[in-house]
Amino acid sequence: MIPYLPEAFTDFSKPENEAAFTAAFERVSSQMGQSCPLIIGGREVHTDKRNESRNPSNLEQIVGFVAQADKAIVDEAFQIAAQKFTTWSQVSPEERAGYLFKSAAIIRRRKHEFSSWLLLEAGKTRTEADADTAECIDFLEYYGRQVLQLSERGKQTLVPYAGEDNRLEYIPLGVGVVIPPWNFPLAIMAGMTAAAIVSGNTVLLKPASQTPVIAYRFYEVLKEAGLPDGVVNFVPGDVGEIGDYMVDHTTTRFVTFTGSRGIGVRIYERASKVHEGQIWLKRVIAEMGGKDSIIVDEGADLDLAALNIVNSAFMFSGQKCSACSRVIAHEAIYNELLDRVVERTRTLTIGDAINANTKVGPVIDQKAYDKIRNYIEIGKQEGRLVCGGEAWDNPGYFVSPTIFADVPADARLSKEEIFGPVVAFTKVKTFTDAIAAANNTEFGLTGSVFTRNREHVEEARRTFHVGNLYFNRKSTGALVGVHPFGGFNMSGTDSKAGGPDYLLLFTQPKLSSEVL
Ligand code: NAD
Ligand code: ALA
Repeated sequence: MIPYLPEAFTDFSKPENEAAFTAAFERVSSQMGQSCPLIIGGREVHTDKRNESRNPSNLEQIVGFVAQADKAIVDEAFQIAAQKFTTWSQVSPEERAGYLFKSAAIIRRRKHEFSSWLLLEAGKTRTEADADTAECIDFLEYYGRQVLQLSERGKQTLVPYAGEDNRLEYIPLGVGVVIPPWNFPLAIMAGMTAAAIVSGNTVLLKPASQTPVIAYRFYEVLKEAGLPDGVVNFVPGDVGEIGDYMVDHTTTRFVTFTGSRGIGVRIYERASKVHEGQIWLKRVIAEMGGKDSIIVDEGADLDLAALNIVNSAFMFSGQKCSACSRVIAHEAIYNELLDRVVERTRTLTIGDAINANTKVGPVIDQKAYDKIRNYIEIGKQEGRLVCGGEAWDNPGYFVSPTIFADVPADARLSKEEIFGPVVAFTKVKTFTDAIAAANNTEFGLTGSVFTRNREHVEEARRTFHVGNLYFNRKSTGALVGVHPFGGFNMSGTDSKAGGPDYLLLFTQPKLSSEVL
């Protein structure tokens, strides 16, 4: 088998790539407004109640209508998933991996179509959408290879013992509930689903309500790849009605969740309750929010730092768990760095993600827009507004990249996740103070350090408490297999998605020992 390598990003400066993207975008645009059913055991279910998914760049555009499951349909989906588990769990890892490889090939061939859906439903610019699609392909290729290694791992890890045949097998758990976020609506949704099923589990996939059409298009790929009915059941719905119900269900063996701290904690707490008739402790994989800092040291390359701060903070309007939302800079370079970041930020073009020159598209919805605007007001009390601060909600949800200077390290702006294009600058006297300030949150997801000082590199390695620590590069853009991703404390269970231990979370090791 060809060794895994991350998918290359598209170079849109090449006219042939630009033309291929435009053609795909036109095809996808003509499919907007269609209805997407629920899929239960391969059966399409259309419901009277439907979710309207709108383009956050242009709210007049309906991307699609998506059926909504109620509790009775959820019960049926659980029943079918449990039934299917009895056979799917016995399918060989090679065969299961084959469905992922086939799905990756289909998406690779149609990658610009998927990126177009991301542009329309999530408001991603074409570069950001292209990266999301590439990451989706990566997860499929990587987890397909990982499951093959997992079946070998048990044989290699046991101590040989004379007269016995001892085996450790990683068997699947059962029926899982997959609850992804909207911000990587293809990559993270597909990665969570693929990891669960390639490990031999069956699932109910409940997509984020903001981006269900992309999830449905992914389901269609699994179907085209020949995945047996009932392995993935597509169950979008109103979380007020079915969210807790799915987590609490006695058939649920595990929940894999990526999203906010609040919902993650809620799921973790609810899943810990053992209900009447439940014969296992539910497993929860919860990847949650971040409050990610970039530290800039005295003597660092300030141009490099400024470029990467702007990219980490404002691409996809800062709506990444890994996005830089704090810059903690040494007093010797603070003013110079701030000027360079502001200068670069002022060159960013804001607008509809459809335009090729847009660098900062919309934020996802009214709730996000209101939350970010509220934080901008808080920032005006806590710091000095030096750039941006404007927001408008017509025809989509747009917020200017916003920078606050002189924000105290313990301000709300320094500690709470905003999830929008807002950055707080804090001045410190020493490198040790910078790390103390960066660690001063309940999160621990990503962090970057710009420095030329080797001692400071090692100090940060020892004391900067984040799951993904980067030096002299951006805080976003972890590559599958290269930078396994996940965070500490309230950033979640540190599952390290895209890493060699991830599939262990979807399996349980079984030892068998035969006396020969
Ligand atoms: P969210 O918590 O609002 O929603 C996440 C998912 O949970 C959605 O599918 C939503 O429909 C569902 N949900 C909501 N209430 C539920 C309930 N009661 N029961 C079951 N499911 C429920 O998060 P979001 O706004 O979609 O995503 C943004 C958040 O995700 C940010 O906090 C971001 O930092 C985080 N995130 C983390 C990572 C990571 O790897 N750590 C990656 C991406 C996003
Ligand atoms: N894995 C994504 C990143 O690194 C969230 O930006």
